[in-house]
Amino acid sequence: MTKSFSILIPTYNEHDNITPLVERIAAAIPGNDYEVVFVDDDSRDGTSELINSLSPKYPVRVVVRKDKKGLASAVVDGFGFASADTVVVMDADLQHPPEVIPGLIKSMRDGADIAVGSRYVPGGGTEGWSTTRKVISSGAIALAHLLLPHSRGVKDPMSGFFAFKKSVISGVTLQPIGYKILLEMLVVGNSEKVSEVPFMFQTRQKGESKLSAKLEVEYLRHLLSLMRRSGELLRFSKFLLVGASGVIVNEGLLWLLHGNAEISLLLSSVIAIEASIITNFVLNNRFTFADRRGKGVKSYFTHLGQFNLVSLGAVAINLGLLWLFKTKFGVYYLIANLIGIAVSMLWNYFANNWWTWKK
Ligand code: GDD
Ligand code: MN
Repeated sequence: MTKSFSILIPTYNEHDNITPLVERIAAAIPGNDYEVVFVDDDSRDGTSELINSLSPKYPVRVVVRKDKKGLASAVVDGFGFASADTVVVMDADLQHPPEVIPGLIKSMRDGADIAVGSRYVPGGGTEGWSTTRKVISSGAIALAHLLLPHSRGVKDPMSGFFAFKKSVISGVTLQPIGYKILLEMLVVGNSEKVSEVPFMFQTRQKGESKLSAKLEVEYLRHLLSLMRRSGELLRFSKFLLVGASGVIVNEGLLWLLHGNAEISLLLSSVIAIEASIITNFVLNNRFTFADRRGKGVKSYFTHLGQFNLVSLGAVAINLGLLWLFKTKFGVYYLIANLIGIAVSMLWNYFANNWWTWKK
């Protein structure tokens, strides 16, 4: 008979953590209606042998893979070995307290598609982290929120402790580059309701962490890959294209009004700028952010107002940087202006992405 949920645990050299882990899981979850599946990458310290020796007493089994392929692939492979429709993913090193599992399962029963064990909701946290580690962690999350709108609703998209329904990943190709499987699932999976359950990330007592600094670089590659696969890179390209069309509108009108109709340069320029802001808005609303377009006249004009304010900010940034680089750092003014244009363009994109066409 299929159990009501599977607990999937990747392991590599976690011998000393296995017994307390399995005991604490059994103590935290009443009854026998679950299975624990370990995916071990051929540990050298007897991890899999120990798991096998526990299997007469506890509902545990281990799948051993030869040629170590890494954490993410162990988890993704593990989905195929988990027999239940609800799967809990957690680490073996007790940094994820097993006592939190019932809370995750409760969220799932209350209708969540994904329940995240979260360090960043009230009641959650990290134990003994240095300020540097905290800053890196928050920075990584902020970056994900900025670049991947699908992750925005979740305070801890980097957690390695979560439960999900298999329907979230059915028909989806998962290809996490680093080890952020939850992030991958949030962005390319099919989840409607995601809830977060607080937990305290514990310090590791036994064994050592396997995740090195190299993986922080992998994370950036993963972000880029997710932007491409979820259409966010395409969105950015459309925004650039629309911006280029705005330059044509602006130049064309300036030429018509000042060059031909002999209207003063200042007035012509103000009209040309505003006209290009409006055409940019219309095109972005129609193409770049078509999926987040509001309904009705009121929302149309609200968005237009926001777009104008963001553009105003862009002008300030452009002028500010031009002045800063030219007068303070002695950069040639055309180059200084290019820096201003590039930064204000990014500002335009992200402010509109985050605010005007909020997801
Ligand atoms: N099968 C397999 N293969 N398991 C692995 C491998 C591997 O190559 N590398 C690590 N693991 C297992 C470890 O044995 C442990 O159970 C779990 O994956 C997490 O590995 P750690 O080395 O303890 O990772 P961490 O504590 O630095 O990172 C954890 O916290 C991060 C958030 O701060 C993980 O949960 C990350 O996913 C999470 O983002
Ligand atoms: Mn760990």
